[in-house]
Amino acid sequence: MAQRESWATRAGFILAAVGSAVGLGNIWRFPYQVGEYGGAAFLVVYLLLILGIGFPVILVEFVVGRHTERNPVGALKRLGTGAWTKIGWVFVTAGFIILSYYSVVAGWTVRYVLLGLQGEYTATPEAAGQQFGAVASGLDAVVFHAIFMVAVIAIVAFGIERGIELSVKVMVPAIIALLIGLAVYAFTLEGAGEAYAYYLSPDFGTIASNWTSILPAAAAQAFFTLSLGMGVMITYASYLGEDRNLAEDAGIIAFLDTGIAFTAGLIAFPILFTAGIPAGSSGPALIFVSLAAAFAELPFGGILGAIFFGVVSIAALSSAISIMEVVTSYLIDEHGVDRVPATAMLGTAMFVVGVPAALDIIFIDVYDLFANGVLLVLGGLLLSIFIGWVVPDLALDELGKGITNIGSLGVTWIWLLRIPVIIALIAVVALNAWDYYGFLTGDFAAWLGENL
Ligand code: PHE
Ligand code: NA
Repeated sequence: MAQRESWATRAGFILAAVGSAVGLGNIWRFPYQVGEYGGAAFLVVYLLLILGIGFPVILVEFVVGRHTERNPVGALKRLGTGAWTKIGWVFVTAGFIILSYYSVVAGWTVRYVLLGLQGEYTATPEAAGQQFGAVASGLDAVVFHAIFMVAVIAIVAFGIERGIELSVKVMVPAIIALLIGLAVYAFTLEGAGEAYAYYLSPDFGTIASNWTSILPAAAAQAFFTLSLGMGVMITYASYLGEDRNLAEDAGIIAFLDTGIAFTAGLIAFPILFTAGIPAGSSGPALIFVSLAAAFAELPFGGILGAIFFGVVSIAALSSAISIMEVVTSYLIDEHGVDRVPATAMLGTAMFVVGVPAALDIIFIDVYDLFANGVLLVLGGLLLSIFIGWVVPDLALDELGKGITNIGSLGVTWIWLLRIPVIIALIAVVALNAWDYYGFLTGDFAAWLGENL
């Protein structure tokens, strides 16, 4: 077999990991989760979870990847015995399902770039809602889903150094620069003051009375946004040739991802408040309906909107390639398939699985609530148990390579994993699984009744 690929530079690895982390999760999902769960109250819980759960779990994935130099399935086969070897499957399955619908949503964002350039956003919420309906479901959505998937295949087919590393060196700086520009613009708007108050001053009463819904939602968001539970960080770390400070790298990634989600809020809320459109109740349609309607009200709104959705599209692309790489590296490592046919086959299969989501928006929830709410968190939970309780010494040893003065970091990490992380993740898996069951027997059953 050919020699395993690796990153050309340290910056390449970090930018790829940041490119994976920064995506639809930050700019599409984060603002509407904030809106749905009470503004700043959600923000506070979310920040705590990034620190207390997100950071330790990034390290878990890094250690597993660098130590084994394998895709998630191969990595667990090397490290574990018996049932533990199966955890890798949870990751690869989650990745497959998530990219299938992630590409559909990314296709909408590409379509909204074109609508902006054509000056076609509509100002009233009803018209904007209809426009979104036409973009989100039907033949157009299938076509843009296909276009996006082809772009993903094209990059990943070129490999780690010439495909992924090269593309993120352009995409990540562009995303950051454009978002900062948009945030500065949003700061000058009339509604900015009111928006900041809503976004930034938490009402601790809201947290206390709603924590059973805020906590699982914020935890699922923390996992999704950091690209955890799907083996992306395992896979990307598996291409690290040398020993470097993984804790430092994890810190940079968590910090930039959080900063960018936060910045997305600094853009979305002032625009919404200025246009007098409520931030709280739009759900997944927030940026496509409410924000697009707000752009229609602003001078040069079409161009601004095209820039905004352009950033979202690029961010989605740099995330989607990381998911594709997980499943691709699995086929390469475990089945000896060549990279180019592997990406073509996987892209085609994921395209097909995503088609229902492009035809009816309810399938976004069918996939998302299961893969993101349950599988992702389950994968992270199982891997944390494995590292914390089964192979802690090996993990500590691996973390220690490349850190000259580890102090109590390693021990704190293992104990954080052993009890608080595990308890929190069990609760989240249970609550989200229950939620999903409610969805399948409720909304989805009703949909099946009407449509079959
Ligand atoms: N982190 C990405 C985002 O915020 C989504 C993602 C999840 C990407 C899991 C890869 C793996 O959009
Ligand atoms: Na993210």
